[in-house]
Amino acid sequence: MLKLQDVHAYYGKSHVLHGVSFDVGPGEIVALLGRNGSGRSTTAKAIMGLVHAEGTLRWKDKDILRSKAYEVAHLGIGYVPENRDIFPKLTVHQNLMLGQKSGKKQARWSFEDMYTMFPRLKERQHTEAGVLSGGEQQMLTLCRTLMGDPDLIIIDEPTEGLAPKIVELVGEYLKRLKDRGISVLLIEQKLTIAMQISDRVLVMGHGSIVFDGTPDSLRADAATRKEWLEV
Ligand SMILES: Nc1ncnc2c1ncn2[C@@H]1O[C@H](COP(=O)(O)OP(=O)(O)OP(=O)(O)O)[C@@H](O)[C@H]1O
Ligand SMILES: [Mg+2]
Repeated sequence: MLKLQDVHAYYGKSHVLHGVSFDVGPGEIVALLGRNGSGRSTTAKAIMGLVHAEGTLRWKDKDILRSKAYEVAHLGIGYVPENRDIFPKLTVHQNLMLGQKSGKKQARWSFEDMYTMFPRLKERQHTEAGVLSGGEQQMLTLCRTLMGDPDLIIIDEPTEGLAPKIVELVGEYLKRLKDRGISVLLIEQKLTIAMQISDRVLVMGHGSIVFDGTPDSLRADAATRKEWLEV
């Protein structure tokens, strides 16, 4: 469904991705792991057209290499960036409304779906988003993206700074997305939820994919973990 082949990316003259290749299939959860600065967020930005990229970048058999972020979003890729970019002065409900795509008749998700999945957001639907806890803001950002009805969601370090109990919850929700047929590209640094919920894990090092396999095969591969993941 999503296919990257020999993708390079640049910030000005700085060459950051050095030939990244991988696929994400329908309904698959794929984790993209790696240390700080390995190029995970840049990979997400390359897919979304937010950084200059070269190579093959296809989504549903369409070339999206030169597409703009709003075009990529319109084609069905939802992106939850590293910083939880909610609108702090708007209420939870207004934030969700902003995620809806105009002109789409039958979206897969309703406000009620979001509130059923995250009762905490229902309780706080008329609250200004800026006063929510970090975990709640993370849920809100995820829900706002879901309201745009993506077929693939790219989510960049959703568990960063969250308490372990909330991290577990985020994992549960991502699994539920899969149950609804949505693919997930989960960018993480820690192995925790990635190893529990992913169908496949990719490890990045210095702007390339250095491992592509199942969670079990990564568990068995102490050398890769030591070289590319452990701090
Ligand atoms: N806007 C930018 N301009 C120039 N260089 C950048 C920019 N953003 C990132 N880089 C560099 O690109 C490399 C990859 O960064 P990237 O953000 O993709 O890493 P990451 O794997 O997401 O790690 P982390 O999120 O922990 O920083 C790093 O060396 C980083 O310094
Ligand atoms: Mg990053």
